[in-house]
Amino acid sequence: MKVLVVGNGGREHALAWKISCSSRVDRVFVAPGNAGTAIDCENVDLSVTDFSGIIRFAKENQIGLTVVGPEVPLSAGITDALESEKLRVFGPSKAAAQLEGSKVFCKNLLHQANVPTADYQVFRDAESATRYVMDRYPSDQESAPLVVKADGLAAGKGVIVCSKRAEALEAINRIANEREFGAAGDQLIIEERLEGEEASILAITDGRTILTLPPAQDHKPAHDGDTGPNTGGMGAYCPAPLVDEKMISWIEEHILVPTVHTMKRSRTPFKGVLYAGLMIGNQGPKVLEYNVRFGDPECQPLLMRLQTDLVDILEATVDGTLDQLEPLKWDPRPAVCVVMASDGYPGSYEKGHVIRGLDAAAKLEDVKVFHAGTTSKDGNVVTHGGRVLGVTALGNSISAAKLQAYTAVKEIRWPGAWCRKDISDKALALQSS
Ligand code: AMP
Ligand code: GLY
Repeated sequence: MKVLVVGNGGREHALAWKISCSSRVDRVFVAPGNAGTAIDCENVDLSVTDFSGIIRFAKENQIGLTVVGPEVPLSAGITDALESEKLRVFGPSKAAAQLEGSKVFCKNLLHQANVPTADYQVFRDAESATRYVMDRYPSDQESAPLVVKADGLAAGKGVIVCSKRAEALEAINRIANEREFGAAGDQLIIEERLEGEEASILAITDGRTILTLPPAQDHKPAHDGDTGPNTGGMGAYCPAPLVDEKMISWIEEHILVPTVHTMKRSRTPFKGVLYAGLMIGNQGPKVLEYNVRFGDPECQPLLMRLQTDLVDILEATVDGTLDQLEPLKWDPRPAVCVVMASDGYPGSYEKGHVIRGLDAAAKLEDVKVFHAGTTSKDGNVVTHGGRVLGVTALGNSISAAKLQAYTAVKEIRWPGAWCRKDISDKALALQSS
């Protein structure tokens, strides 16, 4: 079979690499891909939202399965477009992708399904949102633990976590008056700020059966100790000891099952990856958000550990036969992924620096360097994005996996390259406490 992966990040490199390991797959294409997918697979020069181009390519090349990585084409209806042409595609419908594409849709669904989440209010204009904050916090002096969110997709930037009233008012102003996130800010949500530690629980579902994947943890702030501005994710590891077996069962019963059932009952059945971003606090896990795709970078350590043929899982999801699949097999060893980024990220950064040391890193045992923001130029791999590489390693313990990932990082260099130095330390702190 031939498979097409849509996207160009580290997640898509990991997906394409794992799919190419399947004995049932002859060729894997990636649209548009990066320098890493060009090495492991074959790139196709099509943008992720060029649905007619993707349909044409899939038909002309007898693509047996298209796997969609990012949220933007899913929210724009790529699954519906391909299915209407009788093409097989892994990813939720446009209607189901609202779970990520509209935070108002998501919160209303969580409420309807009685799933634990932060208390919230929805607003359509700055005046009513401002009045709500002023009424709730009459004094500017007291703390105001609120989170202000633009409703729509904003590349992870539309969520503003506040401590003071002035910050919440400024966030409302940015979203609703200055229209910093465009139409994504037509509605906004103000919710209570939750305390605790975050975890990512990803599950694969065909709309009936739910397969929960091992827990993972991302590192969103740019700098060590979870300080600095938010990023797309600076590293991840799996499994995350914060979420034990008992908690996974609780999450399935109280979060995943009611969500999938309510989606079905609401005539927006969900097929694909349901990614719950959770806050684990004193009151137990609560949903911060849903994503409708694999997490990036969580996908990299997850797939590094997956031993079951990924194509079997993806096809069973598309066919609605997940209940017939054998239990998933995982490498018992943990995996750690360290993101190497361009100087300046998450702000502005230069592109085009030649990346050296990739071959030496690839030679290390149990290491895979997933490319994200890279491209090929004059026979070299050069930087082309903010998050450039996801250096991923397996080890007999989390600390061994961490050591091996950072050993590989040391081999790789370009001017201005940097990474967090403490990826997975949260797990180590938990294990030693
Ligand atoms: P979201 O895109 O909704 O997951 O938000 C992005 C990030 O904002 C999350 O990973 C959290 O770090 C933070 N966040 C979102 N909602 C809340 C909340 N209610 N309380 C505390 N932090 C939050
Ligand atoms: N790891 C965060 C995300 O994929 O949205």
